[in-house]
Amino acid sequence: MALPRLLAAALEARAALLSQLHSEDTDCYRLFHGTAEGQPGLTIDRYGDLLLVQTFHQPLSPDELSAIETFYAEAFPALTPIYNDRSQKNSRIRNPLPAERQQVAAQPHTARELGVRYQVQARHDGQDPWLFLDMRAGRRHIMQAAAGKSLLNLFAYTCSVGIAAAVAGARQVVNIDFAASTLAAGQQNAELNTLRIQPDFIKSDVFPAVRQLAGIGQPQFVRGKRMPAFPKLAPQQFDIVFLDPPRYAKSPFGVVDLVNDYPSVFKPALLATVEGGTLYCCNNVAAVERGGWLAQLQRSAAKAGRPIRDVEWISPEADFPSLDGKPPLKVVALAV
Ligand SMILES: C[S@@+](CC[C@H](N)C(=O)[O-])C[C@H]1O[C@@H](n2cnc3c(N)ncnc32)[C@H](O)[C@@H]1O
Repeated sequence: MALPRLLAAALEARAALLSQLHSEDTDCYRLFHGTAEGQPGLTIDRYGDLLLVQTFHQPLSPDELSAIETFYAEAFPALTPIYNDRSQKNSRIRNPLPAERQQVAAQPHTARELGVRYQVQARHDGQDPWLFLDMRAGRRHIMQAAAGKSLLNLFAYTCSVGIAAAVAGARQVVNIDFAASTLAAGQQNAELNTLRIQPDFIKSDVFPAVRQLAGIGQPQFVRGKRMPAFPKLAPQQFDIVFLDPPRYAKSPFGVVDLVNDYPSVFKPALLATVEGGTLYCCNNVAAVERGGWLAQLQRSAAKAGRPIRDVEWISPEADFPSLDGKPPLKVVALAV
């Protein structure tokens, strides 16, 4: 099917979702999810007043780009299109933009989701525009659960989960990530909203932080090697813990490996969750099948003496369709 027809079919399929989202004060969503909608490697997102077109497999031809711009100029005339070709190594953006669009792309913009304001930016030193849209379902769930609760947000990135919880009335929010730039974006997100609490933004490797919170502690020396300095934290358990690690990351304190070793992050996160609390676990590796992953979490929880009492799966919303009903992003809320 020609590209404009694919775009039209995707927009039509979202009619009900978009009217619901607009009524919920949301102006950021995926408009075209190429993998499931006819052009793998192409995604088109609305982020407030930006239309972000991205390619991950191969660049668009000038004709394709112009067809996309023409289609959305009619459907969403107020949006500025920004095209980021990320088909090269490490998902780095390569293509130049016309000068006036380059300026728009390099400036922070505000997007709204479920009444929460988030800073987004189409181009900056990192790769993604500061807000993952497929996590809306997770943030929605958190907002329904957070009032009066304490929440620990691990691998917080720009802290969207923590900010959503704070807007929804959490009594304490602690965000942890080792990247200063993403925490700074998280602080901007806090400033964009009216919050009754001041969330914490802790720049730390998650391993020593969550081990200390869980009461396991982080030794200064591991196998004779002195560990780098890390912020000292007092033990504390939280009503809600949100665990959303990257696919793979190695640090002096440990290895995050969502395919081979989820328990390395799961176990301390579980022990940092109060008994009767909820641990949200995320895994965005498409090759990890949800049944096997859950069985691994159940074994690990039982071994830690904190069995899982109840399981609720949270699927991405309808702007992230999947062909086989197996979306790459798996989010599960575990009553523990
Ligand atoms: C998948 S993103 C998390 C997305 C976030 N939950 C959201 O919904 O926006 C992963 C984050 O983990 C951070 N990270 C990776 N390894 C880490 C480690 N060992 N300690 C602390 N942060 C880490 C990265 O800086 C990045 O911000």
